[in-house]
Amino acid sequence: MPTMPGLAETARAIVADGKGILAADETVSTITKRLTAREIESTRDSRRAYREMLFSTPGIAAFIGGVILQDETIHQDSATGTPLVELLEGRGIIPGIKVDAGVRPLAGAPGESVTEGLDGLRERLVEYRELGARFAKWRAVFSIREGLPSAQCIHANAHALARYAALCQEQGLVPIVEPEVLMEGAHALERCEDVTGRVLHAVFNELFDARVSLEGMLLKPNMVTAGHGCARQAPVEEVAEATLRALTRHVPPAVPGVVFLSGGQDHVLATEHLNAINALEGPKPWTLSFSYGRALQDEALEVWRGRREQVPAAQQVFHHRAWCDSAAALGRYSG
Ligand code: 13P
Repeated sequence: MPTMPGLAETARAIVADGKGILAADETVSTITKRLTAREIESTRDSRRAYREMLFSTPGIAAFIGGVILQDETIHQDSATGTPLVELLEGRGIIPGIKVDAGVRPLAGAPGESVTEGLDGLRERLVEYRELGARFAKWRAVFSIREGLPSAQCIHANAHALARYAALCQEQGLVPIVEPEVLMEGAHALERCEDVTGRVLHAVFNELFDARVSLEGMLLKPNMVTAGHGCARQAPVEEVAEATLRALTRHVPPAVPGVVFLSGGQDHVLATEHLNAINALEGPKPWTLSFSYGRALQDEALEVWRGRREQVPAAQQVFHHRAWCDSAAALGRYSG
């Protein structure tokens, strides 16, 4: 596996000095659901206004090293005509792009899915790189149910993640490899730990076979938690220990950064979990930071509600949450 200095530098820069990632790559259909739930009309322009508000928040570049965009946003300009990609770059924030095409039912595996989007990916990566993207993201999902995830679901998704990651590196983009074990279900934390470990093991096997440079990628995993429907929600410390144990057992130290997804956790809990993981004793060879979507945005969206006069107040709560998550990435958050 060759090391790739340009990619490794970009990967490290995204998570340097307590910085993390803002995942603002919701598809048009997902962001539309989040906007309409707050009685905000979802139009090309309202989506642009919302994202521009987040990206232009004063002081945010101290906490956010990268932003994941999606196809519509990477082509959009600010209200004053600056491409949003340039707006980010001008503030020292590295732009990235979601490149998977979403999940489809996996043949032969009832109830399970595979992430698609490999067809034509090389050409799309070239286009996105020319538009200014320096990293990419691909998300695979795994549900925990009786007897699931199946071996073929784990294998198919891990294989696709590795093919995506190799293509990204070929085109000079840092791949964010996102295998997400979902929180839906009533399973205990121990079951999530077991499944997360099996998934990570399969993903790194496939990355090795695909000759992906581990130094030039970032891993975006779930934390190890009990399912949403489980009667016993583990205390923060237990989540932190189980998460670090899974990483220690299955993630090679050559990976420069692990940026957790929030996955529907309450935003304060997502901060507390990250802080507790970083505060644990023992070897942590990777930078452990965040790549949160909902946990970073929910409060700001609630305050904004599509009203121009609410922009400063919404930016203030977004700034506060990003500040908290950055402190947690350094193990210095204190509530
Ligand atoms: P959440 O933090 O809301 O899970 O989103 C992160 C993400 O990028 C999901 O793909």
